[in-house]
Amino acid sequence: MEREIVGGLMVGDDQIELLLDDLFEIHGYDFHDYSRASFKRQINRLFQKGKFPSFAEFRFRLRTDKSFISYFLEKVTVNVTEMFRDPSFFKMLRESVLPTLNTYPFIRIWVAGCATGEEAYSLAILLKELKMLHKSLIYATDLNPVALESAKLGHIPLKYMKQYSENYIAAGGTDDFSSYYTASYYYVQINKDLLKNMVFSLHNLVSDHSFNEFQLILCRNVFIYFNSTLQDRVLNLFDNSLANLGYLALGSKETLQLSSISKKYRAISTNAKIWRKH
Ligand SMILES: C[S@@+](CC[C@H](N)C(=O)[O-])C[C@H]1O[C@@H](n2cnc3c(N)ncnc32)[C@H](O)[C@@H]1O
Repeated sequence: MEREIVGGLMVGDDQIELLLDDLFEIHGYDFHDYSRASFKRQINRLFQKGKFPSFAEFRFRLRTDKSFISYFLEKVTVNVTEMFRDPSFFKMLRESVLPTLNTYPFIRIWVAGCATGEEAYSLAILLKELKMLHKSLIYATDLNPVALESAKLGHIPLKYMKQYSENYIAAGGTDDFSSYYTASYYYVQINKDLLKNMVFSLHNLVSDHSFNEFQLILCRNVFIYFNSTLQDRVLNLFDNSLANLGYLALGSKETLQLSSISKKYRAISTNAKIWRKH
């Protein structure tokens, strides 16, 4: 049943369930354990924006049109990101985590939910400055193919670079930030030497398995879209993928404290969202 609201039709709860089942059964994307409120908000935004005359037509597009699915994924998964997002987090990585990992001969890092790559580029800058990049491999993964394609290119809209430069300084950066990219009219190109030790690939945290053993895993600002059951499942996936004494980092509003893996982990400081496996 469709509901009228002021300003147009709204997709109701029962209809959201139908869409979730379609996405899983037809396209293999399982969003059942995503936070329902946020998922519903995104669906309604798309529904309104596309000016669909009825829910049935929206559902038909989603079931049958491959290009609409790609657009849908892009919108519904929220790919907002930044370079050096939460600068104090990167400062902590620079000062407390990476120097410990620098004692290892080789370091594998997983950036899960990397969106368009800015977080992975920031990490590569830190590794380069600490002279660790040559012995590090960054696996940056996401379920959204469009975001990943952009990440592989190393392009960032020029208009964001002032903010990113400020973030870099707040994160303890002291080099010339503009030396890490080449600017053109609308975009900057991240230096190829920063991208060299990065592997970008599709990986769905809901349905795909662990694929390596890592010394550091970053999964920031992804769990906010998951319900607690899914958070716990993905935390177990990370636990299985993390070497002993490895580090796990989450976003500023996320925690592993109430999860089934929490006893094996200790926060490296009271307010940092970084835990170490014991
Ligand atoms: C808000 S962005 C966070 C980007 C970056 N980690 C940061 O903190 O700036 C969330 C990302 O998680 C990805 N994502 C959502 N569900 C996912 C899943 N099941 N598997 C892998 N990535 C997922 C989205 O595609 C999106 O790119």
